[in-house]
Amino acid sequence: FAKAYASPSIRKFARELGADLGRVIGTGAKGRISQDDVKAYVKRILTAPPAAAPISPLPKVPEVDFAHFGSVEIKPLSRIQKISGARLQASWINLPHVTQHDDADITSLEAARVALKGKASQEGVKLTPLAFIVKACILALQEFPRFNSSLDVSGENLVLKKYFNIGFAADTPNGLMVPVIANADRLNVYEIARALASQSEKARAGKLKVTEMQGGTFTISSLGGIGGTAFTPIINAPEVAILGVSKSSQKPVFQGGTFVPRLILPLSLSYDHRVIDGAEAARFVVFLSKVLGDVKALL
Ligand code: COA
Repeated sequence: FAKAYASPSIRKFARELGADLGRVIGTGAKGRISQDDVKAYVKRILTAPPAAAPISPLPKVPEVDFAHFGSVEIKPLSRIQKISGARLQASWINLPHVTQHDDADITSLEAARVALKGKASQEGVKLTPLAFIVKACILALQEFPRFNSSLDVSGENLVLKKYFNIGFAADTPNGLMVPVIANADRLNVYEIARALASQSEKARAGKLKVTEMQGGTFTISSLGGIGGTAFTPIINAPEVAILGVSKSSQKPVFQGGTFVPRLILPLSLSYDHRVIDGAEAARFVVFLSKVLGDVKALL
């Protein structure tokens, strides 16, 4: 624009129209740009056929004029929703997901948690079931290293990670965020509980740094504080598995010839079927349930 050969009045005219003088061909002496040249340039752009839409390999969902059927309100997605939405879609499209469901008997775990909760709270730690679940997942990941891996870019090699960085889905006013607890295997349940509370508080306040959401090796999505009996979480690619946790409830379990009330925690493990076989996933969840039933292993 600056280098174009045009008078100040033509520059003003072009600015008003938003025309880039650098692209206008001047027909005057020595290529000087006239008002007609600017008009011709603008007209050419306005009358040009629209650029062909990029061809998407995916079939499109139908476009609907919702306002045709009643009153509507337009609300833009938050920046975080746009980022997480694109990543969730990429994972959903690229990774063949399977979800394995199981129940864990957490009666003794809950008794221990309730017994420890008061003392922990005096020390400023909110000891929720999730801290124990993180600990149990680390034991399961150490037993089944493929769940702590990623496929490399070629898709031909597994990258087995020797560190255990556990991400957890946090519901924030701006949308879903996944803070990562780095080297969670080096922490005890109290330290994990403290990290869960501080990271989710930061996420909700919009103060989580990008680096605090990077490097995860396995993710947990807990909806247990809200409700529900099962769901199919989407894998946080390039990770290969994610554990969904639903709300625990008292269920009758047949033991020693009679039904006894036990606190049952529903687990839903989604895994990338390119990397993990169904049998391995079932073994992982069975192991996880067993560990959650043995609170001593977690403390
Ligand atoms: N079953 C029964 N109760 C449970 C539970 C479970 N699986 N998990 C938690 N609770 C209870 C807790 O003990 C707590 O009860 P209390 O206040 O009486 O002690 C209550 O539910 C709330 O727990 P919360 O404060 O949510 O803590 P948390 O450690 O369980 O979870 C977060 C922390 C950050 C994961 C959670 O707040 C959150 O954001 N969850 C939503 C995650 C999400 O959106 N996932 C979907 C992604 S697609």
